[in-house]
Amino acid sequence: MYDRYKREINYLRISVTDRCNLRCRYCMPEEGVRLLRHEDILTFDEIVKFTESAVSMGIWKVRITGGEPLVRKGITELVGMLAGIKGIKDLSMSTNGTLLKNFAGELRKAGLQRVNISLDTTDPEQFAYITRGGNVADVIEGISAAKKAGLLPVKINCVVRESREEEDAKLVREFCARNNLEIRYIHQMDLVSGHFTTVEGGSGGNCPLCNRLRLTSNGMLKPCLFSDIGFNIREISYREAIEKAVEMKPASGMVNHKDNFYNIGG
Ligand code: 5AD
Ligand code: SF4
Repeated sequence: MYDRYKREINYLRISVTDRCNLRCRYCMPEEGVRLLRHEDILTFDEIVKFTESAVSMGIWKVRITGGEPLVRKGITELVGMLAGIKGIKDLSMSTNGTLLKNFAGELRKAGLQRVNISLDTTDPEQFAYITRGGNVADVIEGISAAKKAGLLPVKINCVVRESREEEDAKLVREFCARNNLEIRYIHQMDLVSGHFTTVEGGSGGNCPLCNRLRLTSNGMLKPCLFSDIGFNIREISYREAIEKAVEMKPASGMVNHKDNFYNIGG
């Protein structure tokens, strides 16, 4: 599929839940997050049928995101269902890693190919501060488990406030160098003001090269993270939603007043 700007669209990011077991300061408020009702969240069947449509139209790269995807009940089963779709060449997940030690083996067996894990600092106190109570040791164990399970390459997403030279980012860089991990620096973004930059070491945030569509956990198909445009896949056919999203994909991101990172994925 090509959009109006001749960008080839082949990548679908699927947010499978708006819930998370952490409360990162840049992503979620401490309390009073308005969570979706159960019936609003797409079922596995809907996600899989939608993805089949997307793949038949030219998507071959699929990433599972959240919130935190590993808090979705039955996530391994969903991974298995998605892995069974012929035509997906790259099936990955973005996770905060805290639960990976319990899941890495079964996810690999179900057909997940690789993971990106969020890690903004290796300092336990700083980590607890940024995530409002998380334990960095869980993530480090999760990273080891992912490597052991063969979810390779394991990539680390490091959200930076100012630059990659700040202390926390340096700690993560050293950790990655010691452990043979790829690192990507993501500048803290703001959906409402439209503040975003390219991901250093990754492909995000680069509008002229953007190849993505995003499915939110309640079934809105969005052509761009920084846009209010979305098509409800429960209201129109999957095919039509995909065609419309591709057709309406903006040349570059502007602002998004309708979503939060935890319902659309980073
Ligand atoms: N800016 C940049 N990235 C963010 N994420 C969440 N909130 C933000 C933000 N404000 C990304 C992080 C995290 C993923 C779930 O979403 O990379 O790992
Ligand atoms: Fe959870 Fe990721 Fe948001 Fe942190 S950034 S609260 S880990 S979804």
